[in-house]
Amino acid sequence: MADKKARIAVLVSGGGTNLQAILDAERSEIIKSGKVVVVISSRPDAYALERAKAAGVPAHTVSKKEAASQEAFEEGITVLLDKYKAELIVLAGFMSILSESFTKKYERRIINVHPSLSPSFCGEGFYGLRVHKAALERGVKVTGATVHFVNEIPDGGEIIMQKAVRIRKGDTPEKLQKRVMREAEWKILPAAVEAVSEEIVSKR
Ligand code: GAR
Repeated sequence: MADKKARIAVLVSGGGTNLQAILDAERSEIIKSGKVVVVISSRPDAYALERAKAAGVPAHTVSKKEAASQEAFEEGITVLLDKYKAELIVLAGFMSILSESFTKKYERRIINVHPSLSPSFCGEGFYGLRVHKAALERGVKVTGATVHFVNEIPDGGEIIMQKAVRIRKGDTPEKLQKRVMREAEWKILPAAVEAVSEEIVSKR
């Protein structure tokens, strides 16, 4: 039954392909223990907002740029999380670091997808294409994606799932980003969302 499902808020900042993977997984019942009830973007122009609307999910913007402070930004998000009674917060291409007071409030209730094998190419400054550029510059032969719980250490929370992806000759950051998304992120993020949702529901 729908009200037995964990209520999920997805936080985004950009294209929203990971959000799409979650919405598709919900439709195909790969995610059966959770339901996306709201999408919150830190940018008004994020294409992810269109994806939410197309799926009939309420979509809101809390602009990071226009917020007077980090506190005000997080307060704007909290108001929406409360309004939609969110139980699980999924960071899917959300490009803001959340403060300790925010992450403490939602302990083991926030998960993030990161486009590398943690602890490589993680932490402040490693986001989006920069991660793949750093991996190629270092010459690693294997990279991948990680889904982890979010705590006060950027990309430092407990790992939930990882998937490796091979580097190929001729890879550019753009090519690698697409392959890591397709082969790893879009698979492990929905799987982790289901696993954590199931845990939330089982504890009720
Ligand atoms: C994804 O590759 C995601 O892992 C990464 O940004 C991209 C967002 O794409 N996130 C980070 O780098 C966070 N540290 P999307 O908007 O299409 O899902």
